[in-house]
Amino acid sequence: MLAIPSQYQDLARFIQDFRHEMHRYPELSNQEFATTARIKAALENHQIRVLDLPLTTGLVAEIGDPLAEPLVVLRADIDALPIEEKSAVDYHSQYPGVMHACGHDFHTSAALGAAIMLKRREQSLPGRVRILFQAAEETGHGAPTLLATGALDHAAVIFGIHNDPSLAVGVIGSKAGALTAGVDRFAIGVAGTGSHAARPHEGNDPIIIAGQLIAALQTLIARNVQSSQNAVVSITQIHSGSTWNVIPDGAWLEGTVRSFDQATRELIERRFREVVQGIASAFASEITLDWQPGPPSVVNDADWVDFALQQGEAVGFTPRRVEASPIGEDFAFYQQQIAGAFIMVGSGGPFALHHPQFRVDDRALFPTANYLLQLAVAALARLAKE
Ligand code: NI
Repeated sequence: MLAIPSQYQDLARFIQDFRHEMHRYPELSNQEFATTARIKAALENHQIRVLDLPLTTGLVAEIGDPLAEPLVVLRADIDALPIEEKSAVDYHSQYPGVMHACGHDFHTSAALGAAIMLKRREQSLPGRVRILFQAAEETGHGAPTLLATGALDHAAVIFGIHNDPSLAVGVIGSKAGALTAGVDRFAIGVAGTGSHAARPHEGNDPIIIAGQLIAALQTLIARNVQSSQNAVVSITQIHSGSTWNVIPDGAWLEGTVRSFDQATRELIERRFREVVQGIASAFASEITLDWQPGPPSVVNDADWVDFALQQGEAVGFTPRRVEASPIGEDFAFYQQQIAGAFIMVGSGGPFALHHPQFRVDDRALFPTANYLLQLAVAALARLAKE
C-alpha cells in the first residue's frame, strides 16, 4: 500500500538522506541556523520560492502563482531537544546533548518532499500552497513568532503532522476537537526563615510549607475539575536545604499543568493562585508564583479532520480515531486564526517521543511526504469549488 512509485524513487532517497543529515546535526530551538540554511538550499535547488520574512531561523516556502487563491498551508517544525542521543541508528547525532528526539527532522523532510512534488505540478495547481518550516516548536512560542510575520495571511486552512511512535507505519490518527493539551508551566519560590534544626520555633521552615503546597496543589484536579474533564498537575522539581541539621531559608518548586479546554485551564490557574496565596498567609511566609502560559490545546476542525483522514486513506494509509494526548503543540496558535487539522502519522516505535533512544522508521517518510502532497492538492480542489 505504501510502496514508492518508480518516478519518485530518487526523491524518496533524497528526502531520506536529507533527514539523516538533519538528524546528524540537530539544533536547539531558535538556534536552527544551519538547519534553516540547509532547507533553504534544498528548496532553491528545486526552484521553490522562499518568502522574504523577518525570521532569524525557520522559513516559509510557497508554490503556485504568488497571488493565486485559495491558499493552503502545511506546517513542519525544525528544532531538536537537549537530550543525549542513545539510539543505535548509523546517522546518530554528532552534537553531544542535542538530539532530534521528537522527529522534527522527519516532519521537515516529509514537508520538503511534498514541496518538491508540488513544484513539479505547479502549473496545474488551482491555487497556492505555503509550507511553514517553523523554528522553536519545543519552546511553545515558535508559532506566534511566525504568525507575527504574516505567515498565515490570506490562508484558508492549515494542516500539520506529528509522528507518533505508538502508531504503526501506515496508520494515521486524529480526532475532532481537542487533540493536545493546553500547557502551563509554573515555578514557586518559598521564602522561609532558616534556623538550627533543633530550634525550629526560631525559624519558619520552608520545607514544611513546600509539603503543604504539594499536598494542596494535588487536590486542584481531584476537587475542582469536573470528572468528565481531563487535566494534570505535575510538580517535577523541588530544591531546598543543604545539610541535616539546618533548616533552610527557602524552597523552590517547578512543574506543569495540562488541560484540554480554556474554561478548565482558567479555573486551574485561578485556584492555583488562591491555594498558593492561602498557604502563604497560613504559614506567614512569602511565596512567589511565576506562571508561564504555553500553547493552548490543538483544537481540530471536525470537517477538516474527516477530510484529512479520507485523504490519507486515498493514498494508502489506515485512518484511525485517536484519544487526546496531554502533550503540548504550538500548532494550536495557528488554529486560533484559521481552521485546521493536526494529524498523527505512525512512525513505528518502540521508543516514545523525547526518549534518548527514540527513532523513526524510514519507511514512513515518503508516504508521509506523499500524504502532505495529497492533502494540499485535494484541499485546493475542495476550496476552489466553494
Ligand atoms: Ni514534536
